[in-house]
Amino acid sequence: MDKLYVTGPVQLQGEVEISSAKNATLPILAATILCPYPVEFVGIPDLMDVSTILKLLQSMGIKFSRNDSMTVLDATELTSQHADYSLVKTMRASVLVLGPLLARYGVASVSLPGGCAIGARPVDIHLSGLEKMGAIIEIENGYIKARCDKLKGAVVTFPFPSVGATENIMMAAVLAEGETIIENAAMEPEIDDLADFLIAQGVKIQGAGTSRITIQGMKISELKASKTPYRVIGDRIEAATFIIAAIMTKGKVKVSGFRPHHLEFVLDVLKKMGAQFEIGENFIQVLPSQSLKGAMVETLPFPGFPTDIQAQMMALMSLVDGNSIMTETIFENRFMHVPEMLRMGAKIQLKGNAALIEGVESLSGAPVMCTDLRASAALILCALVASGTTEIQRVYHLDRGYEKIDEKLTNLGAKIQRVKG
Ligand code: EPZ
Repeated sequence: MDKLYVTGPVQLQGEVEISSAKNATLPILAATILCPYPVEFVGIPDLMDVSTILKLLQSMGIKFSRNDSMTVLDATELTSQHADYSLVKTMRASVLVLGPLLARYGVASVSLPGGCAIGARPVDIHLSGLEKMGAIIEIENGYIKARCDKLKGAVVTFPFPSVGATENIMMAAVLAEGETIIENAAMEPEIDDLADFLIAQGVKIQGAGTSRITIQGMKISELKASKTPYRVIGDRIEAATFIIAAIMTKGKVKVSGFRPHHLEFVLDVLKKMGAQFEIGENFIQVLPSQSLKGAMVETLPFPGFPTDIQAQMMALMSLVDGNSIMTETIFENRFMHVPEMLRMGAKIQLKGNAALIEGVESLSGAPVMCTDLRASAALILCALVASGTTEIQRVYHLDRGYEKIDEKLTNLGAKIQRVKG
């Protein structure tokens, strides 16, 4: 397993271009199952999770080709509607093939994703939504066995605005008979991007990005390839990670290639803490800020503070003047970065789903272990400002969701060495 050696403290300077969003790319690639023709993409990020879903789609017979920046997926003919445990266990987002498979073929056998480090992550909201649309679903030997003659449009009301469930039902609704309305839908920008991709194929969708989404079902022959290759939105979570890195290192960094209004709440919190930055159309120019103060933050579904930026924000909170509170309301076990940060000298107390963070003068380098994707990012941020060298183990977690992060940070002046293991 690769390790990263990061030496600090450093001050980041320069510009970084953000890659396309992992959490928009995954559902959009799954949605190609609906399209009986080649679909062209530009700028698909080179991430482990993306290669996993591409492997899964290829295992079902989808043809895929990639040259410099163009990626083409051709789902004219699928040879299987089975998503095997061997692939699904490495990435739970594989469950996103369920809705499109059922919609197109009336049958799907998808391994239950199982939990992951941050929580049990059930899929009950996905399954009850599909049952509402007429699917018969059984769980057999760890697989979701789903079938239906033809999905029917329905009003599907979610008990919680689940991102994945919203995406699965949206995709299922494309080839269902009649209209589907999703009430209490997730409103994340990645939902909006999936809708934009489907609309580019000729699907009629209203309300994406709001809590009520309406999709008109259609025949598969009515789907048409869009004229231009599709480019997925910039990754707001990666952008926030670099913005926080710049603030923590008191650097001057231009973070571009994403939409700042996708980070409105986060930027408000950072501003209130005293961070200095300018907001452009598709960039944030971070400026060196003097002392920052603590904040009270609670993670919430969009447009609230994103759970995927919780760990990175806690890294920043560890070094401000004063105390902060971070409350995690989305996942039940998303503080695994805390014990590692304590080893670097952070002062954090956990009480249930709340963390009390007392700002310290500085952190010190130490050997630490990645446990999940965003926790790994937080450890890198701490290592950039810690005095001495930090050895970061199990960086495969990081490679799932950050494209060339060590290269990008090195270009900004970080001292990072990757040792292949
Ligand atoms: C998506 O996961 C993201 N992943 C996650 O990003 C992100 O943290 C999460 O949304 C919340 O924003 C992708 O988009 C690939 P949810 P998802 O369904 O769809 C519970 C990252 O770091 N729930 O909104 O799985 C669930 O257990 C990853 O990039 C049910 O109970 O999130 C969790 O507590 C991590 N039943 C909460 O809802 C269900 O059927 C949020 O889950 C579905 C979800």
